[in-house]
Amino acid sequence: MIHGSLFSAASDASGESGARALRVGLIGTGVVGSGTCQVLARNADLIAQRVGRPIRVVMAAARNLHKAAQVVGPDVTLVSDPFALVQHPDIDVVVEVMGGVTLAKALVLEAIARGKHVVTANKALLAEHGTEIFAAADANGVIVAYEGAVAVSIPIIKALREGLAANRIHEVVGIVNGTTNFILTQMQEAGLSFEVALRMATEQGFAEADPTLDVEGIDAAHKIALLAAIAFGADVPFGQVHAQGITTLDPWDMVCAQALGYRIKLLGMARQRPEAIEVRVHPALVPEKHLLAQVQGSMNGIWVNADAAGPTFHYGAGAGSQTTASAVVADLMDLARLGSVGLSARVPHRSVHTSAIRSWPLLPIGQVASRHYLRFALHGRPELLTCLQDWLPSLGANIEQWAHVLHPQDDQQDALVVLVQSLTGDALASVLDALLQMSEGVSPVAVWRVEDLNV
Ligand code: HSE
Repeated sequence: MIHGSLFSAASDASGESGARALRVGLIGTGVVGSGTCQVLARNADLIAQRVGRPIRVVMAAARNLHKAAQVVGPDVTLVSDPFALVQHPDIDVVVEVMGGVTLAKALVLEAIARGKHVVTANKALLAEHGTEIFAAADANGVIVAYEGAVAVSIPIIKALREGLAANRIHEVVGIVNGTTNFILTQMQEAGLSFEVALRMATEQGFAEADPTLDVEGIDAAHKIALLAAIAFGADVPFGQVHAQGITTLDPWDMVCAQALGYRIKLLGMARQRPEAIEVRVHPALVPEKHLLAQVQGSMNGIWVNADAAGPTFHYGAGAGSQTTASAVVADLMDLARLGSVGLSARVPHRSVHTSAIRSWPLLPIGQVASRHYLRFALHGRPELLTCLQDWLPSLGANIEQWAHVLHPQDDQQDALVVLVQSLTGDALASVLDALLQMSEGVSPVAVWRVEDLNV
């Protein structure tokens, strides 16, 4: 069911002449909702010129109506029941920026069932329930737009779905969580502890309400799952996405990695393999000259490798009020232009039409091959390098690079770090088991993957 009448030229409900305004219902008037109101108000003329009609927030739902009134201004009808908003006949588009999954899902499905387009910045909702939501949207002839769900200032969804539409995407590798990148940068550059850096990220408003989602890699996994679905036109079962955060990362490994010419970043990775796709999140060594290694603080960076365009790099803020609003309003502008476009001519939710969506198996993390960084405690074993140079190759793991790194304060922490050739996670685990079985066997203190990206 396509609601062409919503987009027809007519006089505006407010009595203004010209094309009829796109009428927006806003659910959530917090950080993103307020930024959206500010951008829509500040750039109202420009936006109307660009899309040929005004975009107007006419109704907002919020828990605290008094506070919400200050955000949306006097001309917006306020309701405390968000279902009253999604069911209201005067709303063309529902903007869901309240967050959370259960209630947000019910509201989004209700809006879709009522023939309303949806704009959302809710990555958890779409990573976990996107298949159901997009199917409902397709069946009802409406669009669920979600540029604000991933790396907000970077129009990466538009880049993948439209700008790079002619390409086969080989890989998408990104720093897509601002909080963890901020923490890693503060730990590395300013020597702050994890706890202090996390507190700063929370104070500055990047962290999720539950920062476990950030530091355990789940927020990044939501985002890379969405990007993988678009890049490969695939259903990505979120439960199978490997997510490891930064809580087990010892800052000393960041120093040791630097001695080898690498930085440790929390990466979201999506790669097309011949028979499967890889979708994973974990800390990884990145060559320090690579653009991804230069992404500092709360900024995001996304590296895309595509068959025709080659590598492209996308950089920008990953969180914030007007930064997210930039994406939310751009989605509203796309919807405002849709009047004459039939469903089949629209950009599909996951880059290909539903009939062409594939169910790629996800490669288990143990079968993913990469080079690995191993840190061994040097203490009391000056002969360790000679031993490892014998043992590791005999077990099938050639050493490609090594360094002794002396700890400035604590010689117990002096390290021998080695990079070993590309092996699957399972193969490396066998090597490490065997290494421990050697007489006077040894086990690394830390093991991290190295991501080899073409600079
Ligand atoms: N907590 C998220 C981040 C917010 O740090 O990237 C933006 O999605």
